[in-house]
Amino acid sequence: MASLKIFSFVAVAMVLSMSHSQAHREGNWGDETVPYTLGPEMMTKLRFYFHDIVVGDNPTAIRIAEAPGTNSSPTFFGALVMIDDPLTEGPDINSRLVGRAQGFYGLSGMDEISLIMGMSLVFTANEKFNGSTISVFSRNPVTHTEREFAIVGGTGYFKFARGFISARTYNGTGPNPIVQYSCTIVHPRKISFY
Ligand SMILES: *[C@@H]1O[C@H](CO)[C@@H](O)[C@H](O)[C@H]1NC(C)=O
Ligand SMILES: *[C@@H]1O[C@H](CO)[C@@H](O)[C@H](O)[C@H]1NC(C)=O
Repeated sequence: MASLKIFSFVAVAMVLSMSHSQAHREGNWGDETVPYTLGPEMMTKLRFYFHDIVVGDNPTAIRIAEAPGTNSSPTFFGALVMIDDPLTEGPDINSRLVGRAQGFYGLSGMDEISLIMGMSLVFTANEKFNGSTISVFSRNPVTHTEREFAIVGGTGYFKFARGFISARTYNGTGPNPIVQYSCTIVHPRKISFY
């Protein structure tokens, strides 16, 4: 009888200390998981030009790393480039700046020149989109005149975004290619847990 009492005391003490340490561990960092609904989805289309300025007084695309074989590779395989490329309303670099493409691309094709691009496009041209971003992560076979990139997310006005970009080389003859981006962005108008 006495041993049963001791056992139950120990068991209660263990449960108490467990729940105490669990409460301590959980803290306030996570809320309950709750159902939510997204409002009707909207579609926003944006069109602008991407300037990859590799050569000049103020390059915005800079090689930051390479593989031992990059410079002898016909496809520059293994080079990594960091970018802060301007996005403009028209093909002229001096037309209105609508945002920037910040991120990096790596030369990832062994048989043809192809990039893997990971970048955030941040828009600054108007109040509605100011500071909002879309995230792009995609292969980019640059010698194909037309290619398509995946939009995998977004922030600000473009929270929960998905969609795609049709990219078309506007002028690829110089060292600093100009590419037309036509974005189709699907995103909810309202997120009800906010
Ligand atoms: C965008 O936001 C920045 C910083 O918050 C501000 O300085 C700028 O004037 C805004 N631009 C527009 C077009 O709203
Ligand atoms: C394309 O770029 C090249 C080299 O920068 C330039 O000489 C040519 O005028 C450009 N063509 C167009 C249509 O802008």
